[in-house]
Amino acid sequence: MKKLIGLDKTKTAVFISGTGSNLKNLIKFSSEKNSPITIKLVVSNKKNANGLKYADRKKIEKKIISFIKPKKAEKKILTLLTKREIKFICLAGFMKILSSKFIKKFKGKIVNIHPSLLPKYKGLYTHKKVLKNNEKFSGCSVHYVTTKLDSGKIILKKKVKIMKTDTEKTLKIKILREEYNLYPKAIKKIFN
Ligand code: GRF
Repeated sequence: MKKLIGLDKTKTAVFISGTGSNLKNLIKFSSEKNSPITIKLVVSNKKNANGLKYADRKKIEKKIISFIKPKKAEKKILTLLTKREIKFICLAGFMKILSSKFIKKFKGKIVNIHPSLLPKYKGLYTHKKVLKNNEKFSGCSVHYVTTKLDSGKIILKKKVKIMKTDTEKTLKIKILREEYNLYPKAIKKIFN
């Protein structure tokens, strides 16, 4: 993707549903001088998502939008994104599937991080499946969001070695640690 605006950072929204450790990391990254993005909005479909506290701490606007009626929810979000001139969206543990209509409006401008070496292990319970299959490696991938779950073009991946002693919990922690490097790196790659 070409730089969206000359010297200014690209106004970005992060969508979350839970813990928000990637959000925390992206907020830190966006405040760095050479980051191409500035986070202007955090959207959560859960009112008690832990990650919302990181938005509060940094006084970033947050919006809680229930997805009980997904069409209505997306409409509300789109209106807000337009108002705030958001040009880029990072999904970070966002547990809702966006409609093709929504994705088309932000074509090539929505990215996601997934805790597996895509195209392997799309969807949920990746660590459990990976361990069950006795994989030697797992990892994380940053990819463009398309209408097919976890299937858009991969921007960057990072491999992690699985030890015999690894459990779902240890693997999750190991991979998350890599996610914090990979997501900013992938964003830089997109904008350069
Ligand atoms: C991460 O493992 C990410 O890869 C996946 O959801 C998890 C979110 O974790 N999409 P957090 O909420 O950022 O801590």
